[in-house]
Amino acid sequence: MCGIVGVVGAENATEVLLSGLKKLEYRGYDSAGIYVNSKTGTPELIKRVGRIKNLEAAIPAGLAGTQGIGHTRWATNGVPSVANAHPHISNDGRFYLVHNGVLTNAKQLAADYLADVTLLSDTDTEVAVQLIAKFVRDGASVKEALRHVMQLVEGSYAFALADRDDVDTLYVAKNKSPLLIAKGDGFNAIASDALALLDRTHDFIELHDEELVVLTKDSIHIENLAGAVQERASYTVDVSEGDGDLGAYPFYMLKEIDEQPAVIRRLLSSYVDDQGQVQMPADLLKTLDGADRLYFVAAGTSYHASLAAAPMFEQLAGVPVSVHFASEFGYHMPLLSKKPMFIFLTQSGETADIRQVLVKVKTMHLPTLTITNVPTSTLAREADYALSLHAGPEIAVASTKAYTAQVATSALLAKALGMFKGTAAAKKLDIKHELSIVATAQQTLVDQKDMIHELVGKMLKTTRNAFYIGRGGDYYVALEAALKLKEISYIQAEGFAAGELKHGTIALIEEGTPVIALISDPVTAAHTRANAGETQARGANVLHIATADLAQPDDELVVPSVNGLLTPLALIVPGQLLAYYASLDRGYDVDRPRNLAKSVTVE
Ligand code: G6P
Repeated sequence: MCGIVGVVGAENATEVLLSGLKKLEYRGYDSAGIYVNSKTGTPELIKRVGRIKNLEAAIPAGLAGTQGIGHTRWATNGVPSVANAHPHISNDGRFYLVHNGVLTNAKQLAADYLADVTLLSDTDTEVAVQLIAKFVRDGASVKEALRHVMQLVEGSYAFALADRDDVDTLYVAKNKSPLLIAKGDGFNAIASDALALLDRTHDFIELHDEELVVLTKDSIHIENLAGAVQERASYTVDVSEGDGDLGAYPFYMLKEIDEQPAVIRRLLSSYVDDQGQVQMPADLLKTLDGADRLYFVAAGTSYHASLAAAPMFEQLAGVPVSVHFASEFGYHMPLLSKKPMFIFLTQSGETADIRQVLVKVKTMHLPTLTITNVPTSTLAREADYALSLHAGPEIAVASTKAYTAQVATSALLAKALGMFKGTAAAKKLDIKHELSIVATAQQTLVDQKDMIHELVGKMLKTTRNAFYIGRGGDYYVALEAALKLKEISYIQAEGFAAGELKHGTIALIEEGTPVIALISDPVTAAHTRANAGETQARGANVLHIATADLAQPDDELVVPSVNGLLTPLALIVPGQLLAYYASLDRGYDVDRPRNLAKSVTVE
């Protein structure tokens, strides 16, 4: 979702902006633009709908500049168009602004302050830049004009502002939307995500909400809304830029699916010591031990990972768990237990739906833990505790290795909590051994790509809809596998509790409807098979995916058996690959599906 890059003092700002925006492509966008200026050149504003390559083709040869801001836009207010793309410019031609977030009172502010200004776009961002220009015309300095806008607007923003008449400075402000300052040698820069600038610096400074920054090539001046100067040390981001490279793969998603066994092994080496004991921070375990119920609050794939995690904590640590959509929880909070603790599984650590929950439960003084792939993210910084997923950058919008890392990290934490509590179930489980078996099972499955690709040809190449069915943990995998399929192949796919099908949804089954039955639970295997049979009797094209211990001779795909609590980690791999090949065979851009954003920073 909207990506921002900005730089001041660079020898070639255009290059910094373009390479940075390309690194942010994974976030999802539908238009892009840059503004570049220098002491000797003329200011240039270029915007295009569609991919960054369209923008690149429109940039005049030799455009360098020392000051620049760039943006990838994921439409919220107004359709994707050149007029709505950022940067937005004030009517007097002096100010250029890029913005990530949503200003909920923009219309009101336009009516109150800009009655005499003709707005050229449908965006809230344009209102902000016109306001800045107006306040400067009325006598404010640029910094004070920006501060005034920060005081007036409601909602979320990461702003980067350039003044045509001052090429040595960039103005930056942030509230709720992510933005980092990057310290360079002879330049300073900003980006929504460190990944955008890792080829230029590893030195970053975090910003807090409602802070304003004045940036020159060799100074970084941070103030809060009240004008008090904020001193803040920088930190090093040690992800190598190479981790985000595609290598020989056609798409990041395939690379990331293949990386899953390595992610599990990395988690084992990060969290398990030489004696096979899971090492988690003692104070975190103590706080978890004090909770009478764990509330997992998440979105999308991370919500599905939370569902898979819940039985681990219940069975290994004997603590009740409930799992909620973040977008619902904050506004329709259930009656909480006496001693709740909140766990946020989040790949990006920036999801706005989760952040609003975190902010709320913090005001209630309730303990929080974020488990994320981005240790420097907002949710990692703001929760009481944070654990890292160690999955390396995930670039494809459809999440795969982050799901694996979330489920595996949850298993490690549940085991550690169970040991802390001294439960028999935790003592019995050799988690290192069991997760190693999972890594091997995943390897076996990713090595069967060709066979899974063939299944797509038989079942999913042309269908308009599809069903995944399963019970218990298999149902949670069905939800995630169906989400993968719809995200990137646009097949209307549903994950369904197998037993519920006959209570209504079976009406949708007709000749040739693909039904994929997931069978890994000995207790319900026969029931799920019977439910699949009911759809087959009505013409469905059924694919049975069963674990080896429960497989029958005619099953189309057999998954190696792993520990019952960990089966989602094995069973999801065919689901990911089926989605990948369905998208590929239909000719779609697997990594960048339409309408989706990787990092969803608006509610
Ligand atoms: C977006 C992404 C999904 C992701 C969800 C939650 O919708 O497209 O892939 O699962 O956000 O993101 P998070 O970063 O919190 O895991």
